[in-house]
Amino acid sequence: MDIQFKATGIVEKGTLVVFASENTKKKEAPILSATAVGLDNKMKGTLSKAIKISGFKGEKGSMTMVLVPDGLPLSRLIILGTGKGKDLTAYDYSVMGASIIAKLQTSGETDITIAFDNPVGSPIDSVEAASRVAEGVRLRGYRFDKYRTKEPETKKPTVKKVILSMDNYKEAAKRFAVLDAVASGVLLTRDLVSEPANVLNPVSFAKRIKELEADGIKVTTLGEAAMTELGMGSLLSVGQGSAHESHLVIMEWNGGKKDEAPLAFVGKGVTFDTGGISLKPGPGMEQMKWDMGGAGTVVGLMKALATRKAKVNVVGVVGLVENMPSSTATRPGDVVTSMSGQTIEILNTDAEGRLVLADALWYCQQEYKPKFMIDLATLTGAIIVSLGKEFAGIFTDDDKLADALSKSGDETGDKVWRLPLHKNYDKLIDCDIADMKNIGGPGAGSITAAQFLKRFTNGVPWLHIDIAGTVWSDKDMPLSAKGGTGHGVKLLDHFISENYE
Ligand code: BES
Ligand code: MN
Ligand code: ZN
Repeated sequence: MDIQFKATGIVEKGTLVVFASENTKKKEAPILSATAVGLDNKMKGTLSKAIKISGFKGEKGSMTMVLVPDGLPLSRLIILGTGKGKDLTAYDYSVMGASIIAKLQTSGETDITIAFDNPVGSPIDSVEAASRVAEGVRLRGYRFDKYRTKEPETKKPTVKKVILSMDNYKEAAKRFAVLDAVASGVLLTRDLVSEPANVLNPVSFAKRIKELEADGIKVTTLGEAAMTELGMGSLLSVGQGSAHESHLVIMEWNGGKKDEAPLAFVGKGVTFDTGGISLKPGPGMEQMKWDMGGAGTVVGLMKALATRKAKVNVVGVVGLVENMPSSTATRPGDVVTSMSGQTIEILNTDAEGRLVLADALWYCQQEYKPKFMIDLATLTGAIIVSLGKEFAGIFTDDDKLADALSKSGDETGDKVWRLPLHKNYDKLIDCDIADMKNIGGPGAGSITAAQFLKRFTNGVPWLHIDIAGTVWSDKDMPLSAKGGTGHGVKLLDHFISENYE
């Protein structure tokens, strides 16, 4: 889909979207935008009459369609409610753009023009606001449909071009280029989490990441021999039952000062999680194709940063493995030695994500001496019990990181909620046979998992994000159709640009 910015003016064809805001006096008619007023005059008041009859009040996100009288070259006219101008946020504008494309994507329409008049009183300037509308169109317009070969024409997307017409259109186009770069990262993450596990395995995933070299990212891939050499007994134990070789992939984006320590992001990349010998129950197991969501998010983030040429040094490390039961798989009770030298008794082979991250985190801090490490993982079902599918859980001892990340969450809509870490949880993973065990018993499952990870951070500032609830959605979301959400990419991009560039 082509998204363009053009000067305010005539629309040649297709659907025209105009704005109307809610009247502060509740009972009165909504306030039409300048374009809408012009149109209403041209239509001899038909527009305001239609609004009155339909009961449209201009509430944020509401929409009404108006029949187009003869003489106008349009197929549809849509009035979009913008609510009360003064409490609009950048995120609201993205959602507006998203709702337009959601409504029209398969409508048969090919061309949409959004007459962008910033509602009076909006705290967001028109350049930012219009770019956000376009961002929403891009994000919500995404579909993962490469395997649908028999979709009827009536269900296929038809929109080819979306134009935002406005003053300042050149500045808006420039600003959108940055948002679009970040969106390309979000969409890459969605592509990756949507791929079935017979297509995306640790080997093919590593190859996909290698393609990021075209964007200026340095990519290094370690296979099992190299990881054995490094002593990564924990990560390797997870993939040892799989036919696909495990990989550790390291991505470096050096857009910052030459000797500045990088920011580090580490991702769990279990391309399929059967649970291993501690096999998961059958129903719903297909969802475990997106158990590589942490890695997918790190890869999407790197793509976003490179595409917008972020002025910062960042390293991404992803551990790619497939957790399968087989005669070579890890057994419950096996003891492994991690790269850190710490030993782990594996009591449940389904608690595999922490085993992957243990070595990825240790490697990352040892090799890159980063300012901090943030890991992302679909780590625990328990986080869904705690937070449902709205918030990702964050865990850290660093209040500054937690606050900055929470703020980015609020502003991007990729919401996060802090849960505790505390030494008192440590006893739940202490172990008689080895230095620790990989499960902590029935309570506080997400916390004991985080407490486990902490043991592999070697004192480097660190924050863990459990994205098990947010990576995928079974229903449509404001900025994504059901499926992969890409939650986390905008969050971290925003966190980086606000605090480290
Ligand atoms: N990948 C799962 C976590 C998960 C579960 C993500 C459901 C999304 C939806 C993880 O590897 C896992 O199996 N965790 C176990 C840990 C337990 C065995 C201590 C869990 O959450 O049940
Ligand atoms: Mn598991
Ligand atoms: Zn898992």
